[in-house]
Amino acid sequence: MNTPQAGILLPVPPLARYLGFTLEPDSDVHAGLSALLDVVDGERTVAGLGLATVTAAGLSVPGLHAFPTPSAPGIELPATPAALWLWLRGEDRGELHLRAQRIEALLAPVFRLVDSIDAFKHDSGRDLSGYEDGTENPQGDDATTAAIAADGSSLVAVQRWLHDFRRLAAMAPEARDDCIGRRRSDNEELDDAPASAHVKRTAQESFSPEAFLLRRSMPWSEGRDAGLMFVAFGATLDPFEAQLRRMTGQEDGIVDALFRFTRPLTGAYFWCPPVRDGKLCLIR
Ligand code: HEM
Repeated sequence: MNTPQAGILLPVPPLARYLGFTLEPDSDVHAGLSALLDVVDGERTVAGLGLATVTAAGLSVPGLHAFPTPSAPGIELPATPAALWLWLRGEDRGELHLRAQRIEALLAPVFRLVDSIDAFKHDSGRDLSGYEDGTENPQGDDATTAAIAADGSSLVAVQRWLHDFRRLAAMAPEARDDCIGRRRSDNEELDDAPASAHVKRTAQESFSPEAFLLRRSMPWSEGRDAGLMFVAFGATLDPFEAQLRRMTGQEDGIVDALFRFTRPLTGAYFWCPPVRDGKLCLIR
């Protein structure tokens, strides 16, 4: 029986590393996938295949397509596709590093490591802006319904956002709360938040059909740069795309106030195959 990759439904770990790979030209993608099956358990390491790999391997993944790049004045939404995305979950940075090294070496003839970003849980699960992240995530069976398709697979949207901490610091606390639509101090939702507030833009029940997804985002930092690795799993990509359209003002011209202090540097979709007998199952 197929089960979802367990790491998708588990709470966010204390530490993580995200690895992005491209396909080596003229390499044997089937050999690469077979090596992948040996190193990914779906729990400590979650894997997502990009369109390039799916196409090269002749797999059929309905619903997986190129990352959208809706344009809005002053906003850039980069699409940065990758062949393979790995989310290494753990609690020891050294172990994560050594695991990443081992995986890189095993996949090297086919998948070339081009991106490696360290991430962490902050406080009780806050974004580095100080706001609680994940409050309105679906729970239990609702989480499974939102994130997992009937065959146990999932689609994931990944965007690395870079925060502008100077801009954030220059805002009055009330203006910051209005950006999110929640109070930083006690996480209370603000009834009178402006329509541009992030939680007004993305309120999952307010879409038709409702647009629930399972967010498993984690703060990241690299030198002086930091922000949020936004990671959202869905049985389909429709909820994410509906939210992104509204965030970028495609529906009513109102742009999400989040863009006042943060912007995405990357954007990509991946297919997270289910697990069978402890290994990723690529047969559909
Ligand atoms: C740097 C980027 C982002 C930050 C810092 C951020 C932060 C937050 C915060 C603080 C909340 C309120 C607490 C919660 O329910 O989790 C929230 C809610 C939410 N965010 Fe984001 N978010 C970001 C990007 C996105 C993106 C790109 C999407 C989808 C396209 C998204 C979708 C949602 C959804 C669906 C909710 C829950 C809304 C509800 O039903 O109340 N977020 N986010």
